[in-house]
Amino acid sequence: MIKIAVLVSGGGSNLQAIIDSTKKGVLKGLAKVVLVVSNNVTAYAIERAEKEKIKTFCIERNYYSDDKTYNADILKKLQEAKADIVCLAGYMRIVGGNILEAYPGKILNIHPALLPKYGGKGMFGHRVHEAVVAAKEAKSGATVHFADETYDTGQIILQREVELSPKDTPQAVAKKVLEIEHQIYPEAIKKVIEEIK
Ligand code: GRF
Repeated sequence: MIKIAVLVSGGGSNLQAIIDSTKKGVLKGLAKVVLVVSNNVTAYAIERAEKEKIKTFCIERNYYSDDKTYNADILKKLQEAKADIVCLAGYMRIVGGNILEAYPGKILNIHPALLPKYGGKGMFGHRVHEAVVAAKEAKSGATVHFADETYDTGQIILQREVELSPKDTPQAVAKKVLEIEHQIYPEAIKKVIEEIK
C-alpha cells in the first residue's frame, strides 16, 4: 500500500475525493491517506480527515521565523508518517526545497485550469475562473502536475477539459471544473504510483 500525505488549506473536497477513491475508487487496494497537513487550523479539510480517522497536523507559518524551519517541520511529519507520495490539494503555499528534495517526482498539485494557461502566482480560486470567463474561453478544465519551486509550472501528469457555455458565470465554471478535479486527481495519483512501483 502506497501511503499518501495530503497538504490542505481549505475545504478539502479534493482530499475527500482522494480518500473516497482509496475506499471505493481507482486507488482501492493501491493506496491510503495516512496524514493530512493543514496550514490553516480552521480548514474544513481537517474535519473531513478527523471523520475518516486520519492523522492530522496543523501548522502555522506565523510561528516560524522562516520558510526553512516551517518546511522542515512539515517534512519531519511526512517522514514520521512514512508518506510515499505528497498531494497538494488546495494548499496555499509553495512546498519548500527540502520537501521537494526528499520527494523527487512524488509531489503532486492540482490546478483548476488548463495549464499553462491561467496559472502562476496570484492565479488561484475564483480569480482563475473570472479570468477564464473574461477571456470568453470555450473550455476550461483541471490539471494535475508535479510540484516544483514555483507556481503551476511543474510537469503535467493529467489534464481534462470541460466545455463552457457563454452563459457560464465564474461560479458555474468553478463548479464544472471542481467535478473534473475530483475525477482526475485520483487517476493522476494512480498514474504516478504505477510509475514509481
Ligand atoms: C481546487 O480548486 C484546487 O484546484 C485548488 O484549490 C481548490 C481546492 O479545493 N488548488 P478543495 O479544498 O479541494 O475543495
